[in-house]
Amino acid sequence: MTDKNTPTLNFTIKPEPAALTGAVEQMLDYVFGPTRLDKASYLFRDGVDPVPELSYVAMLGDEVVGTIRYWPVHVGPTNHPALLLGPLGITPRLAGKGIGRTLTFRTLEVAAEMGHDLVLLVGDVDYYKRFGFVPATPHGFVMPGEKRPERLQVAPLKRGLLGVVRGDIRHIHGRSIAPAAIDPALAPLGAAQADGAQLDAR
Ligand SMILES: CC(C)(COP(=O)(O)OP(=O)(O)OC[C@H]1O[C@@H](n2cnc3c(N)ncnc32)[C@H](O)[C@@H]1OP(=O)(O)O)[C@@H](O)C(=O)NCCC(=O)NCCS
Repeated sequence: MTDKNTPTLNFTIKPEPAALTGAVEQMLDYVFGPTRLDKASYLFRDGVDPVPELSYVAMLGDEVVGTIRYWPVHVGPTNHPALLLGPLGITPRLAGKGIGRTLTFRTLEVAAEMGHDLVLLVGDVDYYKRFGFVPATPHGFVMPGEKRPERLQVAPLKRGLLGVVRGDIRHIHGRSIAPAAIDPALAPLGAAQADGAQLDAR
């Protein structure tokens, strides 16, 4: 019997080379759909590059079948440096074969080696708890603009940070982000932010 934790697919992972950036973007469009950039978490990525050492791809032969990236953010009144994980996306036909798990564990390991101590994300609690993520809202973290704060999660990479570092997630260039979003489903006329950005975190 196959151990369900053992990847059964012969994929490899590696840091994302610049030559594959186009293929990664195409895959993300396919996995998350054309509105993916409307999510609140993208407001914190606007005008900021992902951390190059933490951008990884999964390859099956020459094909990009998985991607993970992290973005620098600040947290709270002290502007504590943190990472915003995401997007993590796997080619749908290869879901459930350990690619996401492998990419996430490896990059969290690299992040810790680099000295990062706090990682945040917006995603499914049941998936990310295996990596040490816990709901962030009860620990005082706030993502302005996020309509589903129960999906905000945090993983401390060092002890003693939860309850000490807390507050609003901030754009690293100090850009102002609206504190609340209106769910378009509840507001048929839309939820345009003051600067025109649409907030659609899922
Ligand atoms: C969610 C995703 C990243 C998981 O990666 P993956 O390579 O398919 O999954 P893995 O092989 O690492 O893990 C499989 C396990 O995760 C579970 N899982 C997968 N997606 C899940 C989800 N959304 N919520 C909870 N558990 C999930 C599977 O049931 C399986 O559980 P098991 O180990 O107990 O059998 C990937 O399927 C994907 O890109 N999905 C679409 C985009 C997405 O939802 N991205 C995450 C943003 S929240």
